[in-house]
Amino acid sequence: MKAPAGDRRARLREMLADLKMPGALEAVDGILAQADSGAVTASEAIEELLSAQIVLRNNRRLQAAMRSSRLPAVKTLDHFDFSFQPSIKREQIESLHELGFLERAENVILLGPPGVGKTHLAISLAIAAAESGRKVYYGTLAALIESLTEAKAAGNLLRRLRVLTHPALLVVDEIGYLPINQDGAVLFFQLINARHERASTVLTSNKGFEEWGGVLGDEIMAAALIDRLLHHCHIVNIRGNSYRMRAHQDLFRPAHDERRQEDGS
Ligand SMILES: Nc1ncnc2c1ncn2[C@@H]1O[C@H](COP(=O)(O)OP(=O)(O)OP(=O)(O)O)[C@@H](O)[C@H]1O
Ligand SMILES: [Mg+2]
Repeated sequence: MKAPAGDRRARLREMLADLKMPGALEAVDGILAQADSGAVTASEAIEELLSAQIVLRNNRRLQAAMRSSRLPAVKTLDHFDFSFQPSIKREQIESLHELGFLERAENVILLGPPGVGKTHLAISLAIAAAESGRKVYYGTLAALIESLTEAKAAGNLLRRLRVLTHPALLVVDEIGYLPINQDGAVLFFQLINARHERASTVLTSNKGFEEWGGVLGDEIMAAALIDRLLHHCHIVNIRGNSYRMRAHQDLFRPAHDERRQEDGS
């Protein structure tokens, strides 16, 4: 004889609690009510139940990552306006967010002028990786070099390099804004060398590769660094206007455009 619906519901709740699925547990009554009324099919109900648990799990992973990874903000692909930046190939960015590059320990380098979304996209890749359960870490180049310099002074360089080699994804943001001294460049090289072919690094820079020698203060080291980085690498070259300045686009419009507007043409 079939168990009464109320008993089965109670058992379902017990099983979800036993399996430690609080997201599904919270959603189960609402989903069952929809299923009972015929509003959703059985497979839709199961899909909704599992989705509720996955959403909760991903949120928890993201919160944990926000505490440990030093990510400066939550930026996701959902909030990225591709129409504002037509030089970006949407398929390339979406395919990177499927995270195959992490499995293959490939790098991603985002290049472009200020405000075009380099940090936004680097963070959204890190968040996708964190939600998939991977360890991620974020630093500007200056902050990472500072932490390596401190570790070296304290005799802990190897340990610090190991810690920074561990995450499946490391973001190195803002290569090019602050000059790096020779010691800093050596430490950065050691970091990239340690991660090379082991784990993925996502880097951003406002400078083309030909200028990295100047940034790092050493052409030969920059060449060796770029050689390693480009060995297995996806390059996202962004050309366009700053999103920060989007309310002031008229300041950048050539004078003849303004004339045309005045003419009404
Ligand atoms: N296409 C976009 N759609 C939505 N928001 C965007 C877009 N591009 C940039 N932004 C937002 O604009 C701000 C500046 O972008 P971001 O910090 O990614 O620029 P950046 O390329 O890293 O610049 P910088 O070189 O100055 O560090 C951020 O708040 C970011 O979320
Ligand atoms: Mg930035």
